[in-house]
Amino acid sequence: MMKEEETEKRIVSGNSSDDEKNAELTLRPTRLSEYIGQQQVKDNLSISIKAAMQRGEQLDHVLLHGPPGLGKTTLAHIISNELGVGITASSGPAIERSGDLAAILTNLRDNDVLFIDEVHRLNKVVEETLYPAMEDFKLDIVIGEGPSARSIKLDLPRFTLVGATTRAALLTSPLRDRFGIIHRMDFYEDRDLMEIVTRAASVLGVRIEENAAYELARRARGTPRVANRLLKRVRDFAQVKGNSTISIDVTKSALDMLDVDSVGLEKMDRLLLEAIILKFGGGPVGLDTLAAVVSEEQDTINDVYEPYLAKLGFIQRTPRGRVATELAYKHLNIKPGKEKKQGDLW
Ligand SMILES: Nc1ncnc2c1ncn2[C@@H]1O[C@H](COP(=O)(O)OP(=O)(O)OP(=O)(O)O)[C@@H](O)[C@H]1O
Ligand SMILES: [Mg+2]
Repeated sequence: MMKEEETEKRIVSGNSSDDEKNAELTLRPTRLSEYIGQQQVKDNLSISIKAAMQRGEQLDHVLLHGPPGLGKTTLAHIISNELGVGITASSGPAIERSGDLAAILTNLRDNDVLFIDEVHRLNKVVEETLYPAMEDFKLDIVIGEGPSARSIKLDLPRFTLVGATTRAALLTSPLRDRFGIIHRMDFYEDRDLMEIVTRAASVLGVRIEENAAYELARRARGTPRVANRLLKRVRDFAQVKGNSTISIDVTKSALDMLDVDSVGLEKMDRLLLEAIILKFGGGPVGLDTLAAVVSEEQDTINDVYEPYLAKLGFIQRTPRGRVATELAYKHLNIKPGKEKKQGDLW
């Protein structure tokens, strides 16, 4: 019941690749007190957890949503650790039939956490089986087909569903309404990321200068997973150069070589901005058109690249399409109205 294979292997995308899963495991904080940033989410969760434990009841169902790599999976595991209960992890697409879900649910113990990643990708039948399970801890399943079909009701342990999604908007409202606790994860502040980089460096057993940690943090697009990944690449550079400490110089040259610019944009981010500006006069341009022009999947653009571009204020997502802002023009050093002349890129 592991999360399904992820195919993304980019350096700065929020998605994790297989070879990084093990390293992620050790870098992953296991207690709320080690979890850096997201103060409001932590404060609220900590109260909900304490209250549930005092009552000796299961925690209300929790929905965590936000861009990839911000620590949703990490937080789900922390919740079960703090509650001192077991956790079973699965994902929306992995639970294909209601029978799969029934098998998972009936194997839980009271107060256990069931973590479902990509919860927006549950299919309709499974989702409908989940409703009464979440609400009344009852399972309603139909066995057999045709005239011999019969429905059976099962009592379930009182569990906590922790759902994670990068696409809260795709959640059906009956599902969303069944989560008592909903938290939106936001991009991290530079100083939080700096702390994450420093902590990760000590876990990895490498020294890093303070200003180097800050530089990494600034260029990690507000995302801990990206910060950890960049740290590992920069560590490689330092090692090959024979430096025992990661300095600001080696950090800068490594990030430049990795094509990560001063604000953390990578090639695809710049390609997107350039497409909007140079090809479509600054927009608005629809996501489907944009995806075709840069040869990237719409979902990836929407989930991985655009949230950070929007956070930087480089694009606006309007009903008529994506628009590049003045800040984007400035960052790319393109003068508004001069787009066409520099259009040789296209
Ligand atoms: N608050 C944090 N403090 C320290 N490290 C963190 C924090 N949040 C995340 N990390 C690090 O970032 C990595 C990615 O986090 P995680 O896998 O939980 O993200 P996610 O939101 O589940 O991503 P996805 O949407 O792709 O599933 C973790 O391995 C962990 O090392
Ligand atoms: Mg995750």
